[in-house]
Amino acid sequence: MERNYKIPVHVSIIMDGNGRWAKERGRERFCGHAEGVESVRACTEEAVRKGVRYLSLFAFSEENWNRPRDEVSSLMELMVKAMVNELPTFLSNGIRFVVLGNRERLDGRLNSEIDECMRRTAACVNMTLVVFLSYSGRWDILQAAKRLALEAAADPSMVPKVKDMTIEDFSGYMSTAGIPDPDLIIRTSGELRISNYLLWQCAYSEMYFTDTLWPDFREGEFDAALAEYAKRDRRYGKVK
Ligand code: FPP
Repeated sequence: MERNYKIPVHVSIIMDGNGRWAKERGRERFCGHAEGVESVRACTEEAVRKGVRYLSLFAFSEENWNRPRDEVSSLMELMVKAMVNELPTFLSNGIRFVVLGNRERLDGRLNSEIDECMRRTAACVNMTLVVFLSYSGRWDILQAAKRLALEAAADPSMVPKVKDMTIEDFSGYMSTAGIPDPDLIIRTSGELRISNYLLWQCAYSEMYFTDTLWPDFREGEFDAALAEYAKRDRRYGKVK
């Protein structure tokens, strides 16, 4: 199949505004997160239809652990439920499911559901859906640097390799190794910042901000972001 180069290979989304969506309706914050799962489904299906190869979602940041305990546990419960419910859709749409982040902080049940979902979808090839859980950009850079330092300390013959290390080599130590950097990063809800998301990987990403709150961000909104991306002129610092 001939590839349409105006379709981004990797779309990444900072899903924001669930709490405000619920508040506007006089409902609990949890209702906003639950409705947000419907947007996850709508965008995932639309991304597959449009030929996006990687869709990644910032679902829970390292900083989100500081939210009230009830909200954290209901979000975790929602993730487990969503994974169990969505597995048949992943399989029928050929979606490989991957979770990245500091998984040591996730509870045992969530981790075993994640492992099961990753194992069952490992051979799917239409699209990879990456969910960032307990993730932050600084955490990712730090874990990469620590791993590299420990490897070099254990094997001094690595020192020349470290000295000659390229950007691409270091990318291999990031949690996202093997996943192309995002072409397009979408943030919903009107906030105009990166919030410690893919700091290393966003170097040349096109940014798309919308006031739409995440629970209202469905196929039409996703298509509008792709249409805007198609108009962008990517120069990577060069002159064209
Ligand atoms: C940000 O809105 C959203 C989150 C912290 C959670 C996003 C998680 C989901 C939509 C759950 C499902 C995810 C998957 C992958 C199944 P906010 O709470 O910060 O909203 P606010 O800024 O309006 O308070």
